[in-house]
Amino acid sequence: MVEISTSILSVEKEKATRTFYNLETAHTDYFHIDVMDGKFVPNNTHEIMEEYATTIKQISNIPLDVHLMTYNVKDYIEQYIDLEPNIITFHIEAIKSKEEVYEIIKCIKENNVKVGISIKPNTRIEEIYEFLPYIHMVLVMTVEPGLGGQKLIPETLEKVKKLKEYIEKNNIEIDIEVDGGINLETSKIAKEAGANILVSGSYIIKSEDYKKTISELKQ
Ligand code: DX5
Ligand code: ZN
Repeated sequence: MVEISTSILSVEKEKATRTFYNLETAHTDYFHIDVMDGKFVPNNTHEIMEEYATTIKQISNIPLDVHLMTYNVKDYIEQYIDLEPNIITFHIEAIKSKEEVYEIIKCIKENNVKVGISIKPNTRIEEIYEFLPYIHMVLVMTVEPGLGGQKLIPETLEKVKKLKEYIEKNNIEIDIEVDGGINLETSKIAKEAGANILVSGSYIIKSEDYKKTISELKQ
């Protein structure tokens, strides 16, 4: 069964609370929180995402799926941990050494939060194989991180396929999430490739009927 994590990156401030409520009644499985620091990626969304995540926490029980596109990962973990997210995902490209990757995994787990590792389109999937037994999810970026509303890069789905084959062969139970450019058309090929959690932002937020859009993406 595929799950949908709705990215709230493109939600307008004036309509935010109503939009979150509507997404909840439309049965989004997660709220995807895109945290950008202005360094790992040019945009800075930290303040607005913290505000949105706090609002969601006050009105909803839908789990938060926090995607850190930042350096200084530990500082951001500290800030988002109070919101009791379901999962925190960080980028392998933001970390200097293997030791540090293990430290961060431990630091997230100590707070009873699930751990995800994300890779950018040009990072080889093999780079994260050794961490797979210790984490809960791999987030394969299907666009360059930093902006909503981009087109999915088809080659990134080759990595999803490779990862799916690898985890099956090695009996590793792990979620595969894809993020960027997911619409009705691309959702099909992402699922075929092996993704079981789809992040979708602008396609859902721009649609007239969230419930219909989310259920179509799931099928
Ligand atoms: C990109 C973000 C994504 C993205 C999703 O840096 O991580 O979550 O905003 O938005 P859409 O679905 O519009 O590509
Ligand atoms: Zn994201």
